[in-house]
Amino acid sequence: MTLFINPDRLQADFDALSAIGAFEDAEGNRGVNRPALSPAHLQARAWFLARAAQAGLETRIDAAGNHSAILRAGTGVQPNAPTPLPTHSHASRPTPTSAVPPTLAPPHTPTLLLGSHLDSVPDGGRFDGALGVLAALEALRTVKDAGLSLPVDLEAIDFTDEEGTLVGELGSGALAGSLALEALQKPRGGRQRLEEGLARAGLDEQRLGQARRDPASLAGYLELHIEQGPRLARSAIAIGVVSGIVGITSYQMMFRGAANHAGTTPMDERRDAGIGAATFAITARELVLRDYDGCAVNIGQMHFEPGAYNIIPGLAELALEFRAPDAKRLGELEDALLTLAGMVARQYGLGLDLEPKGGCAPAPMSERAQAAIAAAADSLALTHMRLHSGAGHDAQALAPVTPAGMIFIPSREGISHSPREFSDWQACVDGGNVLLRAALKMAERD
Ligand code: HGY
Ligand code: MN
Ligand code: MN
Repeated sequence: MTLFINPDRLQADFDALSAIGAFEDAEGNRGVNRPALSPAHLQARAWFLARAAQAGLETRIDAAGNHSAILRAGTGVQPNAPTPLPTHSHASRPTPTSAVPPTLAPPHTPTLLLGSHLDSVPDGGRFDGALGVLAALEALRTVKDAGLSLPVDLEAIDFTDEEGTLVGELGSGALAGSLALEALQKPRGGRQRLEEGLARAGLDEQRLGQARRDPASLAGYLELHIEQGPRLARSAIAIGVVSGIVGITSYQMMFRGAANHAGTTPMDERRDAGIGAATFAITARELVLRDYDGCAVNIGQMHFEPGAYNIIPGLAELALEFRAPDAKRLGELEDALLTLAGMVARQYGLGLDLEPKGGCAPAPMSERAQAAIAAAADSLALTHMRLHSGAGHDAQALAPVTPAGMIFIPSREGISHSPREFSDWQACVDGGNVLLRAALKMAERD
């Protein structure tokens, strides 16, 4: 049975979801503002569960707030099943001639997870995460409508706080059993914002870990996502088969100098925290360009205090994040950047405070999942290439506990984390069909 998703139904969902937390930038580009556990994010999650219920799917929210739609194993009609012989009875109602009784799912039926995340970065794009959750829902509906009976439960899941506006891969880390509660004490989004978000969502911090799934209960994880980079578009390739996902480490970095008069303090006698921060930012970029090919460094925030035109900054706070494709390289880059920060501090007579803000380990994708994705693309005559992800994803949290795979579709000009993020609709539909067919292969049903 060759299945295709319903593109119109997916489009209707995408348009409806894109309206939740919607905004337009000055050029009229449409984005979304759905930081994790914000009112807009919670509204999107409620909408997702309502759509799942409308399709007759079971819904669930776990202790980490992960939202799921579930299609139980063996719930479909056995395709080409023999029609039950009519039995004649007198008074009793005619024997129902509907489906052959569904096969009883064997005990401990494993779950194949399909999903991504509905939270966004501030002023983000409509596709990042959302496409993967909607395509997962559409895959479940397509299997259900086809009456296909699978040996696994199919679960479309929306993970909590993938983007790290609170912690980062919070929900997927909790499900995988890797969420360290100490990461919640000094989260990169700030302790207060985390507490407010958990309270708004009705989540108990002490119970987040109860979302952990026994790896034996999982049959795998597949995620459809936009590439968020330029390679597929530049290569004119339709599908990316992700081979691995980058490791990410975050630090809050503080240079401490001496606030002083901007006009009267001699230029060579200043302890200017702002100059220290700026020097570090420029030199860190040069270091990575020169010595760390395939890695990245970013300073997403820089904050000076007291913060006035006529005061030399006494304090400079930086939100530092850096990435590398493997753990060894990530560790080397961390050492190099922290050494550089110390050198800059000494050069300008500054104090230096470094606060780790967590991170995500790099992860290879399952060979079996990659093969299922490539075969699914081939079955649709879609070109595909293997590529490594420079973006972090929930799949990297799942990879240590279950065979995990990711499907990329092209991003226009490689843009993401911006309202200018865009993917052609046909590419989204192609990705949804690859997800569906790869899922059937992972469920051992072609
Ligand atoms: O930041 C990332 O790489 C991902 O979009 N969360
Ligand atoms: Mn994402
Ligand atoms: Mn993202």
